[in-house]
Amino acid sequence: MKINVLKNYKELSSTVADIVETQIKKHPLSKLCLPTGSTPLGMYDELVNKKLDWKSVITFNLDVYLMNITRPQSYQSYMRKNLFDRTNIYPDHYHFPFRPFSAFEDKIKGSKGIDLCILGIGTNGHIAFNEPGSSFKSRTRVVNLSEQTIKDNSRFFDSVDDVPTQAITMGLETIMESKKIILMANGDHKLNILNVAMNGEVTEDVPASILQNHKNVKVYYSD
Ligand code: F6R
Repeated sequence: MKINVLKNYKELSSTVADIVETQIKKHPLSKLCLPTGSTPLGMYDELVNKKLDWKSVITFNLDVYLMNITRPQSYQSYMRKNLFDRTNIYPDHYHFPFRPFSAFEDKIKGSKGIDLCILGIGTNGHIAFNEPGSSFKSRTRVVNLSEQTIKDNSRFFDSVDDVPTQAITMGLETIMESKKIILMANGDHKLNILNVAMNGEVTEDVPASILQNHKNVKVYYSD
């Protein structure tokens, strides 16, 4: 698969923000699937600055930690701070994975599916919180976070012991049902896994490798 290499983080952020802008302007009723983490922060800033009309847009987040959602590290807090509270999106139009998971999945299906899904990638090849070994047939569920992910994400917490050990994540099959997928990755430390996932064997040991089986995926990288 082609990895589009961009000049820097700014260009990565603006390229993906432009894709989201085009999607929303062409289809105001778009259903988007959104990531958290460090990588999309610049993209969210760019999107906010575009002052788009979000009133008909519906969003589904990829994953949430199992933790107190009022804490600043929760993905619910992250999304409100970095995107939702800075746009005119209706609070009942954004969704985080919820129980029963079949109802969350039905909500996605009921809205005719995800038009555009933005993904990041973990250093172990996870997408959303589908850790290595996740079934390609997986759907929304509770997962145990891998040691690598806990270590990687400890930078957002006071200490590694403070990082939640479990999360709810959309499954790989759920993600693959999106009509269009953009994978964004930033930093040298992501380059190796990105190459393995996009051009190596398609295997459950490297969850992102499933994207090789999707017809409409674009991959953007900056160092
Ligand atoms: C978060 C998510 C994760 C991150 C990945 C990369 O919602 O889906 O898969 O995209 O862990 O995180 P960063 O961008 O912090 O390197």
